[in-house]
Amino acid sequence: MEPAIEAEGLVKRYGSVVALDGLDLAVPEGSVMGLLGPNGAGKTTAVRVFTTLLRADSGRARVAGLDVVADASKLREIIGLSGQYAAVDEYLTGFENLDMVGRLYGLSARDSRARARELLERFDLVDAADRPVKGYSGGMRRRLDLAGALVAKPRVLFLDEPTTGLDPRSRIGMWGVIAELVAAGSTLLLTTQYLEEADRLADRIAVIDHGKVIALGSADELKSQVGGERLELTVSTPADLASAREALAPLASGEITADEQTRQLTVPVSGGSSALMESLRRLDAEAVKVLDVGLRRPSLDDVFLTLTGHAAEEEEAAR
Ligand SMILES: Nc1ncnc2c1ncn2[C@@H]1O[C@H](COP(=O)(O)OP(=O)(O)O)[C@@H](O)[C@H]1O
Ligand SMILES: [Mg+2]
Repeated sequence: MEPAIEAEGLVKRYGSVVALDGLDLAVPEGSVMGLLGPNGAGKTTAVRVFTTLLRADSGRARVAGLDVVADASKLREIIGLSGQYAAVDEYLTGFENLDMVGRLYGLSARDSRARARELLERFDLVDAADRPVKGYSGGMRRRLDLAGALVAKPRVLFLDEPTTGLDPRSRIGMWGVIAELVAAGSTLLLTTQYLEEADRLADRIAVIDHGKVIALGSADELKSQVGGERLELTVSTPADLASAREALAPLASGEITADEQTRQLTVPVSGGSSALMESLRRLDAEAVKVLDVGLRRPSLDDVFLTLTGHAAEEEEAAR
């Protein structure tokens, strides 16, 4: 079966900046792909190429079997897009904006209004529904933009950093809508800077850096590449360090490392919070004095450091 979203060797340059450097990607129909990468990795550029807003210098991309260049107008009819380039009409109300999108996508007047109301509810915009968007806050605009992308229940949906700047309630609303769309067979590509978020929402994750995919897999696969979860604890004395090491050895899924200087112990584990509780029980039984303990899961930074040898923030800092 042909992938719902497909890229081969996409290259896009802005002057001397190489935003996409031979990006390859294939997203099976009905699945959720997370495009994970730090600021400047090329995520938005890729989304813009897939959604026909930007033409790549070379390579090719297809969405639902349609070429992004040759079949651009047909393609626009079957995709939904939300992102950092919101297209809402300032002078219409929130409700009118969504209703207009619904009509543009060919919903009946009745269905379009019902869908608009449903989405306003989901994204906590009911109170603002009849006010012009002009007076909306940044967060409200973002929510409206997301709602707009979801009006037509598109077959293929692109969400560029969908939860950036959203409050927890809207974020949950969005996850609900995404789950429904995917259950109904939509294919989704979402970009994010957070491994946690990609983990929660995506079936597969493509890690991108400098305009190309540097790793691909499920969140668990990526995490295991960087060494999985670990307990990090700081104890009081060198003697505690030795006892802790002994007490926790049976829980370790890999090599334990200890730092005599800082009296920190790092223990690779699996099993998350139950491993944490078990370790506390063992430390308590041995009367080890623990100053600090925590369960650390790999972050995007850890993934990056392992895969590329540089930290994810580096590029930001270099700007
Ligand atoms: N219109 C533009 N003009 C010049 N450079 C751009 C433009 N858009 C993006 N870039 C550059 O291309 C690279 C990739 O950007 P982008 O796709 O926005 O990354 P991301 O969405 O992952 O943060 C960055 O170095 C960015 O500065
Ligand atoms: Mg971006």
